[in-house]
Amino acid sequence: MRFNAQRPAAIFLCQLIFNYPATVQAMTRDGAVDLFSPLKLGPTQLPNRIVMAPMTRNRAEAGEVPGDLSAAYYAQRATAGLVITEGTQISQQGIGYPGTPGLHSSEQVAGWKKVTERVHDAGGRIFAQLWHVGRISHPSLQPGGGLPVAPSALKPAGEIFTLSGMRPFETPRALETDEIKTIVDQYRQAARHAHQAGFDGVELHAANGYLIDQFLRDKTNRRTDRYGGTALNRSRLLIEACDAITEVWGADRVGVRLSPTNPFNDISDSHPAATFAVAVTELAARGLAYLHVVRPQAGHTIESGTLPDMRFFRSLWSGVLMANCGFDFDSANAALRDRSADLVSFGALFLANPDLPARFRANAALNAPDVATFYEGGARGYTDYPSLASASEGGR
Ligand SMILES: Cc1cc2nc3c(=O)[nH]c(=O)nc-3n(C[C@H](O)[C@H](O)[C@H](O)COP(=O)(O)O)c2cc1C
Repeated sequence: MRFNAQRPAAIFLCQLIFNYPATVQAMTRDGAVDLFSPLKLGPTQLPNRIVMAPMTRNRAEAGEVPGDLSAAYYAQRATAGLVITEGTQISQQGIGYPGTPGLHSSEQVAGWKKVTERVHDAGGRIFAQLWHVGRISHPSLQPGGGLPVAPSALKPAGEIFTLSGMRPFETPRALETDEIKTIVDQYRQAARHAHQAGFDGVELHAANGYLIDQFLRDKTNRRTDRYGGTALNRSRLLIEACDAITEVWGADRVGVRLSPTNPFNDISDSHPAATFAVAVTELAARGLAYLHVVRPQAGHTIESGTLPDMRFFRSLWSGVLMANCGFDFDSANAALRDRSADLVSFGALFLANPDLPARFRANAALNAPDVATFYEGGARGYTDYPSLASASEGGR
């Protein structure tokens, strides 16, 4: 069955032509960039521009340790130019859902080591996505049954999945100013652990309504200390966490993910272009490996200012720019050609098609993602999606 990803109305916003930064242009084949063009990402040579987007799959074993099944899942997808792992919590406090892996214990490091070895043996490259969920958690998952933490004591709308089913969110506890340093130290320590586990780099998860995004956007950040108020103050945790992990890795092995218009997890900003211009200008000075942007989609609204689309980010970012959300083969190639992105990440399509680059190259039919097994199901819907080769032998 062929799966046709919806082409969102907002797609046209990424198909505008604008100035291409010289630093990136020099690395690409003259005038013929497509998904199969290689790209040098810091010291890492990517054989193609097809990135596996970070995706939580809730298959970690006891102790939030990734097991052999996860190693097999990631190794199956090693033909991506780059694999980015699922969100991986930097501390027990940073967990938001049952079965998500961590990078704060030696057992977790050992589990991830098996994953990175399998991916490298299969010829791939893999970055760990470092995650703290902030208020998107529940006391039943928190150390000592405590309240989740957040920039401000503001309860998200809705419910959260827990071990005892869906439960209403609780009002989080606002972090004390001097507690934030501890969280920054945990990012640094998780980055060290990622290094020990054999990753090729790390991506800082600053998107989708989790802790760093909660600090960035003004709906969730009402602080009056140096982490609240102005856009620069709201960007402070992002920048401090980024600096902590670049101390460990060097800037050219660190990426950052932002989602300036995504309302997921009950979040918004009254002027996202103004907020993210400040945040990205700060990041741009640091020479990072890439900026990863979840672009605006149909249904994302802004209260004021201009829409922070890929063109907006290109004007602020002279390095490698990765675009995500709703791309298919044609729209991704169009984004590379019109220079609104240098890399494109694919979520659901990579989840369901372990050999996505080969399928794109062969213009082959795509497996449809099975939403029911996104967050549960063991091997089912995880490692049993057929590749082209296995499908021709009888497959799933
Ligand atoms: C099952 C699933 C889990 C996801 N988990 C994460 C995650 O851990 N971290 C993250 O930054 N985004 C996560 N996302 C969002 C994806 O990275 C991506 O932004 C989204 O799927 C849109 O891209 P697509 O249209 O190519 O699927 C998840 C998406 C899916 C489908």
